[in-house]
Amino acid sequence: MAKLWGGRFDGKNEAWIDAFGASITFDQKLAKQDILGSLAHVKMLVHTGIISQPDGEAIIGGLTTIQQQLAAGELTFTIENEDIHLNIETFLHELIGPVAGKLHTARSRNDQVATDMHLYLKEVVQEVITLIAELREALVLQAEANIYTIMPGYTHLQHAQPISFAHHLLAYYSMLTRDQERFSESLSRIDVMPLGSAALAGTTFPIDRAFTAQELGFSNIYSNSLDAVSDRDFILEFLSNASLLMMHLSRFCEELILWCSHEYQFVELTDTFSTGSSIMPQKKNPDMAELIRGKTGRVYGNLFGLLTVMKGLPLAYNKDFQEDKEGMFDSAETITKSLQIMTGMIATMKVNQARMQESTEKDFSNATELADYLAGKGVPFRQAHEIVGKLVSECLSKGIYLQDVSLEDYQAIHPAIDSDIFEKLDSYTAVKNRHSYGGTGFDQVAQQIEAAKALLAGK
Ligand code: ARG
Repeated sequence: MAKLWGGRFDGKNEAWIDAFGASITFDQKLAKQDILGSLAHVKMLVHTGIISQPDGEAIIGGLTTIQQQLAAGELTFTIENEDIHLNIETFLHELIGPVAGKLHTARSRNDQVATDMHLYLKEVVQEVITLIAELREALVLQAEANIYTIMPGYTHLQHAQPISFAHHLLAYYSMLTRDQERFSESLSRIDVMPLGSAALAGTTFPIDRAFTAQELGFSNIYSNSLDAVSDRDFILEFLSNASLLMMHLSRFCEELILWCSHEYQFVELTDTFSTGSSIMPQKKNPDMAELIRGKTGRVYGNLFGLLTVMKGLPLAYNKDFQEDKEGMFDSAETITKSLQIMTGMIATMKVNQARMQESTEKDFSNATELADYLAGKGVPFRQAHEIVGKLVSECLSKGIYLQDVSLEDYQAIHPAIDSDIFEKLDSYTAVKNRHSYGGTGFDQVAQQIEAAKALLAGK
């Protein structure tokens, strides 16, 4: 069949050039949305009297058949028909004959493709929001089981101060809450309909865009036709939100990978999320966590790819826009899968509470406790810091820890130090006493958990 836009062309096509220009190999993912858009458009054409009722019914009948064939996996798309829009329209021609040609009245592929992508992302973002909420839920459950699990908190990857493991998990909960908010907020900009902008300038036909928007469930309509067909901000925003999300997941994965190493042994991932080695029989590798960390790269790449595609494009449509799709599909798939894997990993991981606690007992992460203790007795904090620093240095040369120093030696260092210091140096006490708002104290952590649960329950 000749090309649907072939009127002014000599009809001689080069298959390899067609293949370069075609998008059907990837934009067939938009088939469902494309048919929905066409159905809404044709109903509007009948509603406004632009085409007759019988013509409209024939087109609706044909599109409905194509919809069923799509669901049954019976459609075979072809490169000759370039993209999803021309493929579907060609199927329609084959099914109902020349009346199919009336579907494209007052429409262009430019507003059609933009509409398809708005519809697609609306669905994806809603799914992403649900998946993030499920991961947040898994984190809160693990946190609840680990309020009293003590672990070393780090700065510079050096033991800093002991914290509750739940507090650490809830830090990721907070990041993911912001991620979810960002996706939710972006919906208002995705939920806008370009259809009815036609090629770039609107149309001379008396269309009813409000009718089409209602049919398609859009809350808003683009008010400038040039903007409508040229805007890819909503995709960039999605890619940017996806990048931030992946950055968070990647940091978490990096920690999980460290934590299940022999050096840490803080957690164990279940077999489902691990793999073995083809040569070293003992290996249990955290492949899924590593892959999420690795896939973060392609999600960033998709953002930068599209930002670069867009930066020099004059208004309105340019074929460059066709490059907006693969990255969007890829990021959508990557983040939905990564979120599902992450939720499974967190929900099923085994926490080695004894090992975590132990690693806070053979270190100097209680040095701040001693300095705070002295400051509490009126010693200026800077001076207290100096005293404790010297003591740490002495302990290091003797191969002991602060809790091994005798009361006598403590009192020689400063007379204000009493026997209650030993309880203060205990990592459990150190965590418990951090009551400041947002701190790691058990009461604070419990409050965070309650607030998280209330938020997740939609209260
Ligand atoms: N396949 C095209 C794309 O994805 C559809 C729009 C084509 N419009 C045009 N004027 N050539 O961007």
